[in-house]
Amino acid sequence: MITGAGVSAESGIPTFRGKDGYWRNLDPAKLATPEAFARDPQLVWDWYNERRQRIRKAQPNAAHEAIARLAQHADEFLLVTQNVDDLHARAGLPKEKSVQIHGDIFVTRCSHCDFSEKGRGGSPEPPMRGRLRSIAPTSAKEVSIPRCPQCAELMRPGVVWFGEQLPWHELQRVDNFLDGGGCDVVIVAGTTATFGYIIDWALRPSRDGGELIEINPEETPLSRFATRLVREPAAIALPRIVDELTNRGAL
Ligand code: OAD
Repeated sequence: MITGAGVSAESGIPTFRGKDGYWRNLDPAKLATPEAFARDPQLVWDWYNERRQRIRKAQPNAAHEAIARLAQHADEFLLVTQNVDDLHARAGLPKEKSVQIHGDIFVTRCSHCDFSEKGRGGSPEPPMRGRLRSIAPTSAKEVSIPRCPQCAELMRPGVVWFGEQLPWHELQRVDNFLDGGGCDVVIVAGTTATFGYIIDWALRPSRDGGELIEINPEETPLSRFATRLVREPAAIALPRIVDELTNRGAL
């Protein structure tokens, strides 16, 4: 199973490329880059802090819940999500059955050394509160960017930015799962499937004749390979499809 931002859309988290994706008139695709962070770390942190707040307040929707149910019923299951929110986990999907291939927004890590720490995802408190060390304000506006307690370099969100490598350990987990054999069913929900590795992971297991179900109101590069296209919002379609698959008993 592969998910993208569309699965969290109905929980009120804006997608990247949707009409609500822009923040202060800025394109998220330009904010989620190492270059944007180097140029204006405060701006990038402001954006991520707002997203963290929004995610903390959000609740998993019927799509997240259906996926957690599917994981319980299937003999073998892996979710690869591009989402950095924690809504799959909060819907009850065990960590060992999911891979956050673009990282975790509640992790804060050093931009220089290997120090990282997990913020308190469910809490209303900003992570690292009380441990922030302000850098000298560059203007009248107070700025506060977390600094690494080990090397004092700037801390950054623990997510993968454009042009960066995917986390090695998580890549291994996906490869190990796929090397274990074909899948009867691959479901891809709520992603524009813009990255080659997403297309590869969707198509590789279904080459042996398995089903490929796409759930997305819009067409994507994967649509033409799908054995079933469901042009509906994920929170409507997934509960029904999971019911069908579990009733079929062929999982
Ligand atoms: P996008 O914002 O590119 O795409 C969201 C997809 O969800 C679109 O194809 C929409 O048609 C679809 N969609 C919208 N609402 C939906 C709903 N209610 N139900 C089902 N589908 C819906 O998000 P991603 O494909 O996840 O990466 O983006 C992939 C990556 O690009 C992100 O992880 C992020 C981004 O830049 C990095 O930051 C590296």
